Amino acid sequence: MASPLLEGSPIPPTIEWMGEHIRLIDQRKLPDELVLVDVYSVEQLCELIVELAIRGAPALGAAGAMGIALASVQGRDTAEAGLLLKATRPTAVNLAWGVDRALAAADPVAEAVRIAADDVAVNQAIGAHGTAVVPDGARVLTHCNTGSLACVGWGTALGVIRSAHDAGRQPSVWVDETRPVLQGARLTAWELQQLGIPATLVVDSMAGSLMAAGEVDLAIVGADRIAANGDVANKIGTYSLAVLAQYHDVPFYVAAPTSTIDPATPSGSDIVVEQRPGAEVAEVGGVRLAPEGMAAQNWAFDVTPAELVTGYITEEGISDRIE
Ligand code: MRU
Repeated sequence: MASPLLEGSPIPPTIEWMGEHIRLIDQRKLPDELVLVDVYSVEQLCELIVELAIRGAPALGAAGAMGIALASVQGRDTAEAGLLLKATRPTAVNLAWGVDRALAAADPVAEAVRIAADDVAVNQAIGAHGTAVVPDGARVLTHCNTGSLACVGWGTALGVIRSAHDAGRQPSVWVDETRPVLQGARLTAWELQQLGIPATLVVDSMAGSLMAAGEVDLAIVGADRIAANGDVANKIGTYSLAVLAQYHDVPFYVAAPTSTIDPATPSGSDIVVEQRPGAEVAEVGGVRLAPEGMAAQNWAFDVTPAELVTGYITEEGISDRIE
């Protein structure tokens, strides 16, 4: 059952509990087709997570919880299912958070449904707080996809932009394409078109020139894990943006639910960064660009030190530090 908070939204929920199985948007098919996949086993869900059919930290949190719900209605060993789910992607803490919450609940199904509903409400609260940092007519740079598709609905960093748009701030968005798998070009661009928010796609390496030209008023990104000291793991390229933003005096905000803050991880150097196949770098959309046999390194995330973050926008408000 979709959250009533998403009523009227042009973008359906990313993931839903269907009673005895899960239904999710297959993000590999966007922007060309909006395809829903029905998921009937934990193994199928794990494969979809590894292949980025569902991705984005808050969406992975809901997926983890629903994976445990699925195992429980099928009478499977939920602890074993939890291990399989957690092994799919290591960096986004929300995945383990969602799995653990459902495992600890007396009723994993009710807990998974609650996590999904809460996600939308939490993101709308992030958006409401974040609107305060978006001036009228702001030109906002963002990276990766942090919108509805990265959550159950609404979005975190992109949710702030959406809330600011709805509040009449008339923001426009510079969309980083986000190599190597192009979450910006494929997903963020699609969401902004659905929402009617003015946006322009740029290559990741254009950010510095845009800032130097005075074309960026602020940058807002999401997070996969925020360490106890405020260091932020997010999509590869975020750290470079933060350094550029500081050099050019552009405010740099991180928008994330408090479930992305991991008190058990003291600092960024303790965060495990997922290494993905080199083929994602050597190819675009399955078409090889680099010469055959070329080595390629694919760190999926990087770590931005807390000192480069202007403010953290959570459902609780805006703060310049993680308490
Ligand atoms: O590899 P992805 O697409 O799962 O990476 C997603 C990101 O890095 C997002 O910025 C992050 O999960 C925050 S999503 C609200």
